[in-house]
Amino acid sequence: MKQLDQLTAFLRFPSISAQKHHAEDVKDCANWLVDKLSSLGFKAQSHSTGLHPIVTAEGPHIPGKPTVLIYGHYDVQPVDPVDEWLSEPFDPEIRDGKIYARGVSDDKGEIMVHILGVEELMKQEGGTLPLNVKFILEGEEEIGSVSLAHFLAQHRQELSCDIIVVSDTGMIAPNLPTISRGLRGVAGLELIVHGPSADLHSGLFGGAIANPATVLARLLASCHDAQGRVAVEGFYDGASPVQNWERSMWANIPGMSNADIAKLAGVQALMTEDGYSGAECIYARPTLEINGIGSGYQGEGSKTIIPSTAFAKITCRLVPGQDGARIQDLLEKHFRKLAPASVTLEIKKQHLSAPYLCDPNNPFSQAAQRALTETFSTQPILLREGGSIGSVTEFKDILGVDSLLIGLCLPDAHIHSPNENMPVDLFYKGIEMSQALLRSLSQVELPQA
Ligand code: BES
Ligand code: MN
Ligand code: MN
Repeated sequence: MKQLDQLTAFLRFPSISAQKHHAEDVKDCANWLVDKLSSLGFKAQSHSTGLHPIVTAEGPHIPGKPTVLIYGHYDVQPVDPVDEWLSEPFDPEIRDGKIYARGVSDDKGEIMVHILGVEELMKQEGGTLPLNVKFILEGEEEIGSVSLAHFLAQHRQELSCDIIVVSDTGMIAPNLPTISRGLRGVAGLELIVHGPSADLHSGLFGGAIANPATVLARLLASCHDAQGRVAVEGFYDGASPVQNWERSMWANIPGMSNADIAKLAGVQALMTEDGYSGAECIYARPTLEINGIGSGYQGEGSKTIIPSTAFAKITCRLVPGQDGARIQDLLEKHFRKLAPASVTLEIKKQHLSAPYLCDPNNPFSQAAQRALTETFSTQPILLREGGSIGSVTEFKDILGVDSLLIGLCLPDAHIHSPNENMPVDLFYKGIEMSQALLRSLSQVELPQA
């Protein structure tokens, strides 16, 4: 099958990890990966977890050579609002040189780039590889990698490696290879304000009790000050400051000026924390965001009620030095202190993923930088990422190994959003990149055991 057709077949699985009714599709998608990896002669397996399967695979053993573990996630985000897609999310379509489908940039395209890169390299090397290659492909990244830590702890031996390749981060432009040396972490929390035991007539009770929607609005508004800083006591404790060398480097990243970011986001102007550029805020400052909010009557016309409850879903992005569980506690304390006695608060602490930062000058990163320079005829850009990938700190903590974050997600790839896409050319370029990368990593001298 043609390489593009294989990608298309992979994209057809609606492997949405967040929605229970897609659990079978997630499983089928994992099995498809096992078949593909087995066809390369890899020892591949789908391991069931409490939730969605983890696929592992291991190539031929090449003694004395480094071992690379390639990570990716084959689960995808939900598709809504589905009406805003110009083509079906799981029926890939090519328009103007880009392939449109849910998951193509996050993260199925990148998974295929590496699988096909390995396949090509094996053909060139007469059926073998210049280094040891393993894969770990999970189906729960978009819901916080719930089963991964336990799995890593149980399979430490099989997964032992010298370096991990994670292609699940941003790329500045199709001709500008990008390596990320850091990720922000996440701490999530759901806040539910409970008022009267049922919705009440707002004329019969209004004025005498607290309205949960009003209380929620006040609580949320109290989270930021006028300077765009998070106004939760202790929030910034320990947060490592942005380095001056980073600030000067980030001032000149193509496509990341304040005006560029405003244009990408579709807003008139940025609103940043005072004293920081948009790029600095995204790459290296902690935030608190409301991801969803709801209360009361949402239907046609009006309905005079005091809603019985109101909720908000909140996530904070964290930078190195911040601890997610502590941030959740600080938020809980903040909200409980401000809420009036007329309501009760329910606080559900949700996913945690730690921030990550690594040394971009280790031998594997240098080898990766050479490979990218060769493939794209220009030196890679080094940055930090605003997004989060839970697996990366778990690899560090449990396997003791750093990750090379080499992403192919373009700024206009619309990941998590309608009309997700990847240029077809970038897909093919990625396959070349994967081969150059593996060749280059194979030449890194291992320290004598
Ligand atoms: N691949 C993204 C993260 C990403 C995208 C990092 C682009 C850098 C650039 C990943 O799939 C993702 O969406 N992660 C979630 C994690 C969350 C569910 C814990 C995120 O960042 O919101
Ligand atoms: Mn991803
Ligand atoms: Mn994602």
